[in-house]
Amino acid sequence: MKTWIRIFFLTALCLALLVPASAGDEKKIVIGFSQATTTEPWRLLFNKELRDEADKHPEVKLIVRDGMDDAAKQAADIEEFIKMRVNAILISPKVAAELTPMVNKAFDSGIPVFVLDRDLVNDRYTQFIGGDNKLIGRAAGKYAVKFLGGTGKAKGNVVEIWGGSSSTPAHDRYSGFHDIIDKEPGIKMITKPNDGDWKQDMGYEIMAEALDAHDKIDLVYAHNDPMAYGAYMAAKDVEREKGTAFLGIDGIPAEGVKWVHEGILTATFLYKTPGDEGVRQALKLLKGETIEKRVTLPTKTIDKTNAESILRANGLIK
Ligand code: FRU
Repeated sequence: MKTWIRIFFLTALCLALLVPASAGDEKKIVIGFSQATTTEPWRLLFNKELRDEADKHPEVKLIVRDGMDDAAKQAADIEEFIKMRVNAILISPKVAAELTPMVNKAFDSGIPVFVLDRDLVNDRYTQFIGGDNKLIGRAAGKYAVKFLGGTGKAKGNVVEIWGGSSSTPAHDRYSGFHDIIDKEPGIKMITKPNDGDWKQDMGYEIMAEALDAHDKIDLVYAHNDPMAYGAYMAAKDVEREKGTAFLGIDGIPAEGVKWVHEGILTATFLYKTPGDEGVRQALKLLKGETIEKRVTLPTKTIDKTNAESILRANGLIK
């Protein structure tokens, strides 16, 4: 074989050994995202925004896993990300206590971990991104007090429908609300802390029981819009929806805002989806920037004064 041909093949061989077959993948930043569930529209919007943000960066490879409302499945998904040695993990945990150890394990193994929306029982992770649920609960409390007659004069029977009682937003939404309404002697809570697991059908069930037990319900405070909607349907099914205010949380245009506009919900409080910000923060860190320990997303009150303009701005009405 001629010398130049030999040199050519040797050079090609060396290059082939240096650059693995999966060279395209090697160059990528791999982000693993573990979602708690995909049953609610809020989660679907969350996933969409996260994917859209990742798509803006050709160097990012995103792997999404659905925990399917099962903490054990979610823990296994995180364990898989640890084994894969992904560059960053994003997780929105179904529950706090059960998922904390696996998140801590990922963090201790040196992988940056971003906790989105629901918090854990310790902060052994890189960053938390989410709304201020206590503040949202307080906003709902103030709205309720105003609706029921104003500070010092508020009066009425109130049903509260909890989200998942093993998750942090439910506890914060409860305590923020009670910071305000417990100062009103005329407000009577007619339900005990319960667990609606953030689901519309559970909101329906809890409200149906409350309707059976009480002749008069003035206001329903549900920890998210699907459960507030379920409660409204339960009241409507026994022709008792009129005269009751229904408050929810989330305020996504195609769901809560639309229900407010239709007069089903009295108000909802924006709980911004954190997926896009999660990807942005992870990339910031991976590209060498310093990031904050907590990023708090904004909220706002949505009722009949602004629902229409929000729907219009989102192209949902003309
Ligand atoms: C969706 C959801 C939202 C709620 C959030 C709380 O799964 O239930 O409706 O605001 O989770 O973590």
